[in-house]
Amino acid sequence: MANPTTTTTQMPDQALRVAPSILSADFGRLSHAVGLVAPGTDWLHLDVMDGHFVPNLSIGPPVVSSLREHTDLFFDTHLMITDPARYLEPFRDAGSDGCTVHVEVGETEALVGQMRELGLRVGLAANPDTPFEALAPYLGIVDLVLCMTVFPGFGGQSFIAEVMPKVRQVRDAANAAGLSLDVEVDGGLDEHTVVEAARSGANVFVAGSAVFGRADPLEAARGILRAAVGAVAGNPS
Ligand code: DX5
Ligand code: ZN
Repeated sequence: MANPTTTTTQMPDQALRVAPSILSADFGRLSHAVGLVAPGTDWLHLDVMDGHFVPNLSIGPPVVSSLREHTDLFFDTHLMITDPARYLEPFRDAGSDGCTVHVEVGETEALVGQMRELGLRVGLAANPDTPFEALAPYLGIVDLVLCMTVFPGFGGQSFIAEVMPKVRQVRDAANAAGLSLDVEVDGGLDEHTVVEAARSGANVFVAGSAVFGRADPLEAARGILRAAVGAVAGNPS
């Protein structure tokens, strides 16, 4: 797929960042894993799965609360769950800084309102086959849009490049409306695939296996960020 081109400029506060996903870390030594990557990032991506919205189970508020004791990183909490309304407050109380709900679960406006009331940073996610049009009505009321680049549920899957036009649509729509929106991509990101994602207008890059599956997770995270910075240098979105 050709890289989209644009003449618009990335908003200045849309910093490029890597958000390591602990889904690929050693769950028996989570605080150790977080300590490894902490010098290279300010965000940590926490994948929450309920065995219903996705066919897998992962972590809940008790793990978030335990991790909170060990780090000041921004907790970017990705809720792959059918009933987020029930769990937003427990995650906030456990130490989540931002929560991202999926647009596919519905009740989006109510969930956004609930997150605002709780003081959470607000994210809205879309699966690879969910079109831009499902996200468009909410761009002005959220802080982050997450375009999944795999079907959620498991780490270690291959990046779906066909999602890139949607990433470009989100970034262009945000820029046209003067919105400081974080555009996050999640799934199959590494130092190679991040190039196309960054050029498509994404600025937050979730990476699990390409960080915690490597011998040196800190260097891996830094390498992904370097590749993203290089990709947009002279070619801002
Ligand atoms: C997938 C999760 C991702 C996952 C990414 O359902 O939302 O955050 O951890 O893992 P990698 O980077 O291995 O594709
Ligand atoms: Zn995720």
